[in-house]
Amino acid sequence: MTDDSGGNAAGQRWEAAGYRHHAGFVPELGMPVLELLAPKPGERILDLGCGDGTLTERLAASGAAVTGADSSPDLLAAARARGLDVRLMDGHALSFDAEFDAVFSNAALHWMKDPDTVIAGVARALKPGGRFVGEFGGAGNVGRIVAALKDALARRGLDGAAANPWYFPTAEEYRGRLEAAGFTVATIHLIPRPTPLPTDMAGWLGTFAQSFLNPVREAERAALLAELLDRLAPELRDAGGRWTDDYVRLRFAAVKPY
Ligand code: BEZ
Repeated sequence: MTDDSGGNAAGQRWEAAGYRHHAGFVPELGMPVLELLAPKPGERILDLGCGDGTLTERLAASGAAVTGADSSPDLLAAARARGLDVRLMDGHALSFDAEFDAVFSNAALHWMKDPDTVIAGVARALKPGGRFVGEFGGAGNVGRIVAALKDALARRGLDGAAANPWYFPTAEEYRGRLEAAGFTVATIHLIPRPTPLPTDMAGWLGTFAQSFLNPVREAERAALLAELLDRLAPELRDAGGRWTDDYVRLRFAAVKPY
């Protein structure tokens, strides 16, 4: 969950117990990208945006020597409690130099609003021939939710675009950025993945969309939330009351040349 000091996730706070409750599915759905990475015993791997370490632990189980990096102290404490080697670090300021065989990232790069700085840091962190393999939100991700949030803020005279903490590129755009940094792209594509929520939309918004909610005065937030749920229910809630987010993922694998 490394966030975006280079961007504007104003006031976004991660808290491990709440994250597990409302968003435990995020690392669970990261297995395909872990398989794309195909970690090998003895490799040194950086998990960029490791969060509470759920996937970092699975990477380590492959026999690789894994280091996690994240900017949330609370999530890192949960990762450390698993016995993992983790560092408090912003994804825009990676301090590694040609030390890793691979950099892995799941559901974190969309929080980093200056992608070229992040990609340059990843390139620096990798050994020649090292792999950069990841998945994050791609173009159109949670499109209905973003539209509802922007409209709700606009009705209050607030700028939803300025409050948006996320970077959701097309495959073409991100390929271009990787190639400009010297990577060879092996695969990159968007994957529409409607995602049932374990709790509900109020829990999801409170966990992920704090940057949109924070500009509204606290006394008005309950009304804002009610308005958002009314708007989104016809599109994202089924007859049984179950919410499904309109996720679109961007999955890629790239190699730093020798
Ligand atoms: C995530 O961090 O998993 C996420 C953030 C924003 C929209 C969708 C997913």
